[in-house]
Amino acid sequence: MAGSVLEIKDLHVSIEDKEILKGVNLTIKSGEFHAVMGPNGTGKSTLASAIMGHPKYEVTSGSITLDGEDVLEMEVDERARAGLFLAMQYPSEISGVTNSDFLRSSINARREEGDEIPLMKFIKEMDEAMDFLEMDKNMAQRYLNEGFSGGEKKRNEILQLLMMKAEIGILDEIDSGLDIDALKVVAKGINRLRDENFGCLIITHYQRLLNYIEPDFVHVMMQGRVVKSGGSELSKRLEAEGYDWIKQELNIEDETINA
Ligand SMILES: Nc1ncnc2c1ncn2[C@@H]1O[C@H](COP(=O)(O)OP(=O)(O)OP(=O)(O)O)[C@@H](O)[C@H]1O
Ligand SMILES: [Mg+2]
Repeated sequence: MAGSVLEIKDLHVSIEDKEILKGVNLTIKSGEFHAVMGPNGTGKSTLASAIMGHPKYEVTSGSITLDGEDVLEMEVDERARAGLFLAMQYPSEISGVTNSDFLRSSINARREEGDEIPLMKFIKEMDEAMDFLEMDKNMAQRYLNEGFSGGEKKRNEILQLLMMKAEIGILDEIDSGLDIDALKVVAKGINRLRDENFGCLIITHYQRLLNYIEPDFVHVMMQGRVVKSGGSELSKRLEAEGYDWIKQELNIEDETINA
């Protein structure tokens, strides 16, 4: 299939009547890697949740479309079937559902009824992906994220991403809590998907991840908006200098959403 386009236009999102996102504009095309950076509490995870359709986040105006289709009209599972994938900042633990069963049903949910992935093919693909990500095979039979270490959860999100064949991936702080070697493995997983059929939005605080995954575009969020965009030189400057220069340049005193 030809590439996809996720278009976010003037997106306003509220939580319990408090406006968090105040007009986000962002377009992600397949083939592109976008990094989103920004100080704590400026709306990055809210953006990820709103794209995926978390019920707590109310879109009050603006639009999100995937290849022209209205994403805001879709239920969460429909968004996943349409090709959107979210790796959450804090992945949920689901007791009673094994990692393997969860993966297989997620894959099947994206396929037509009657065209479920054959069990042996699934096992082969999962084995291969787990080897690639240097994961312990026992993780497949454990309950989803239950008792997983912080780093294991992140690696497991990448296992899902690799197997789900998503078109647009949204990765919220996929590098948090990873040790130095695990960071490289996770980056290797994301880079494996880099082709004209896959686009990615990578929310991160640190250049260390972007040293391994060269972003095509870097965006900075403050006050619930994307306030600055550039290329990979932007994240390098942020790493070296922090956010003050952007605040000065744009005359922003308080970067939080309360401003
Ligand atoms: N469910 C919620 N209930 C109340 N407030 C919320 C909720 N979710 C987010 N917020 C508020 O919205 C603001 C933005 O939060 P968000 O999680 O999007 O920030 P972030 O940019 O991802 O920050 P961080 O870098 O720390 O992860 C914060 O002030 C936060 O307290
Ligand atoms: Mg966040």
